[in-house]
Amino acid sequence: VTAGVGIDSRQEITAAEFAWIKEFLREHTGIELKPGKEPMVMGRLDRRLRHHGLTRYTEYIRRLSEGNDPQEIRLAIDLLTTNETYFFREPAHFQVLRDLLAAMPSRGTQVRVWSAASSSGEEAWTIAMTLADTLAGQRPWEVIGTDISSRVLETAQRGLYPIDAADKIPRPLLQTYCLRGRDEYEGLLTIDPVLRERVRFRHANLLELPNDLGLFDVIFLRNVMIYFGQETKRGLVQRVVGMLRPGGYLIVSHSETLNGISAGLKMVTPSVYRADGADE
Ligand SMILES: C[S@@+](CC[C@H](N)C(=O)[O-])C[C@H]1O[C@@H](n2cnc3c(N)ncnc32)[C@H](O)[C@@H]1O
Repeated sequence: VTAGVGIDSRQEITAAEFAWIKEFLREHTGIELKPGKEPMVMGRLDRRLRHHGLTRYTEYIRRLSEGNDPQEIRLAIDLLTTNETYFFREPAHFQVLRDLLAAMPSRGTQVRVWSAASSSGEEAWTIAMTLADTLAGQRPWEVIGTDISSRVLETAQRGLYPIDAADKIPRPLLQTYCLRGRDEYEGLLTIDPVLRERVRFRHANLLELPNDLGLFDVIFLRNVMIYFGQETKRGLVQRVVGMLRPGGYLIVSHSETLNGISAGLKMVTPSVYRADGADE
């Protein structure tokens, strides 16, 4: 029998080890792991233990805590975040976006929209299709997508998705803004260069937002606050409100609520909030 690191030799995560990972994730990302998530943590970190030839979580934790391996910290965060997303998720929001744009006074400035937890980019590209279609060359626009996970940002930037993703995209937009991959891209859908030149992705942690993102007309902050505690949510909403242009809009998921933390915002419809504006 070889003395390799086999599946059988790896241990279950202990309560203390789980508690450490939970605090590590909360501190770096704001994500609060619920009790009972031990199997999820093991399932996601297992490959890193295997990669390093480790059998115990304690050994892996030592690696993360020594502070001299920022790359490993990034990888662990990449694995521990939940990145589920798809094109036209909660489609009503994109009709709302059309309506807001139609009602928005043209300040002669570029319309700026932020996908603040963009994951692999489907939300940002959906926004881009909606803006391109609505503004139809009449006003300049740009979309910024940010996320804490570098891995999903690479996918977002590439703009290549399995062809099945097309099922979620309304036909006319699919035909205008997406291309069917050929040869080495067979089976994939790619985003038209017309959109690519107006969409940028960059790394940003919602807990420590860079101060050079600028101000936005609309911010999508969807399906990320569900992982945060109330205080983290409150701080985040405050910072995000500060990044809205006067009268700008914040859109959260229908499953999220800003009850008690919507300072400086008025609810327009459930999940859509407006910042105080100069022209009210
Ligand atoms: C479930 S996805 C939501 C994607 C998209 N907004 C949607 O609604 O479909 C949540 C994303 O939030 C990101 N995330 C979690 N904590 C974050 C943080 N502190 N800063 C930035 N992004 C974070 C995760 O990496 C993940 O890609």
